[in-house]
Amino acid sequence: MTKAILRSLAGETLPVPPVWMMRQAGRYLPEYKATRAQAGDFLSLCYNPDLATEVTLQPIRRFGFDAAILFADILLVPQALGADLWFVTGEGPRLSTVTRAVDLAKLKPVAAIHETLHPIYQTVRNLAGELPSEVTLIGFAGAPWTVATYMIAGQGTPDQAPAHALKDTDRATFEALIDLITDATIEYLSAQIDAGAEVVKLFDSWAGSLSGDDFDRYALAPARTIIAALKARHPGVPVIAFPREAGDKYVGFHAATGADCVAVDNSVDAAWVAENVQTGGCVQGNLASRHMVTGGDALVSEVRRIRDALSQGPHIFNLGHGITPDADPDNVSLMIDTLREK
Ligand code: CP3
Repeated sequence: MTKAILRSLAGETLPVPPVWMMRQAGRYLPEYKATRAQAGDFLSLCYNPDLATEVTLQPIRRFGFDAAILFADILLVPQALGADLWFVTGEGPRLSTVTRAVDLAKLKPVAAIHETLHPIYQTVRNLAGELPSEVTLIGFAGAPWTVATYMIAGQGTPDQAPAHALKDTDRATFEALIDLITDATIEYLSAQIDAGAEVVKLFDSWAGSLSGDDFDRYALAPARTIIAALKARHPGVPVIAFPREAGDKYVGFHAATGADCVAVDNSVDAAWVAENVQTGGCVQGNLASRHMVTGGDALVSEVRRIRDALSQGPHIFNLGHGITPDADPDNVSLMIDTLREK
């Protein structure tokens, strides 16, 4: 029997949508915190195949999700390209910056990324062997614009101003960086698929800060290039695209990029998504993460509203963004029980 997630991605409308959760392995789970402490720091956990396999499996054992997402991070690709990367506790990632042509010239060629990333492929191989047969294994990477925003600023930024500044003042360097990340992402996702990933997802967390032509050139076009290359090499492997906070630009994103599924954040209403985005193919989303903190009747009614609004087409239930460390695991169980009540 085909797995539920793969059926939804192929365009089937299921009576109960399959479900998984962005950041489902994470700090809201005591068992994650224990394994993370054993690994030392976050990056050591990402590069330890045994422990990364363990934390990927933890939410599957606890909640019975329909998909497991590889435990890794979108910033491993810049690191594999030669950027320095470290995480500051309580603050987030820091990277050496790329703001001039000379910085770009110092990065490694795309073919070198596997030297750094091979432990990630081992995690994927472990998972492909260990996951229950009904659970789908999702690999992932950051989309070029989002990864570039971190590489240019050297950290997360609320408005992506440094990346916009490079784009608007030195477009040649900016575009060369986007092209480099695009090529690296194709190789990275392709290697994940070779290792056993059944689906891949492209996270464009900052797509919403691109407008007009910039959205088409730096969110849409790189996604189309990556998806076309993956489809040529791995026919039949579905791709989920997540141009977060794209708003009206979610409309037509399936057709424009070739994505099998478009994930939507919770700033767009599920009924609007059904009418304007789901007509193009499978959609994923879009419960606000805060309900995993507060739970109760509001959580139950929101799960039902989103499920019912998207019940006439292919849908994978998920949050609109990642679950936060202050979430209560009992609310995750309540979400799944409510979803599967009928
Ligand atoms: O979804 C999953 O469970 C799979 C693993 C995964 C992680 N990061 C693990 C992680 C995935 C898919 C990501 C994606 C990611 N990483 C994105 C895109 C999605 C999004 O959230 O917008 C981005 C922008 C990053 C970069 C990143 N990694 C930041 C900004 C941070 C710090 C903020 C934070 O949440 O701590 C991380 C760290 C990170 N990545 C953690 C995890 C579990 C927390 C690290 C820890 O254990 O301390």
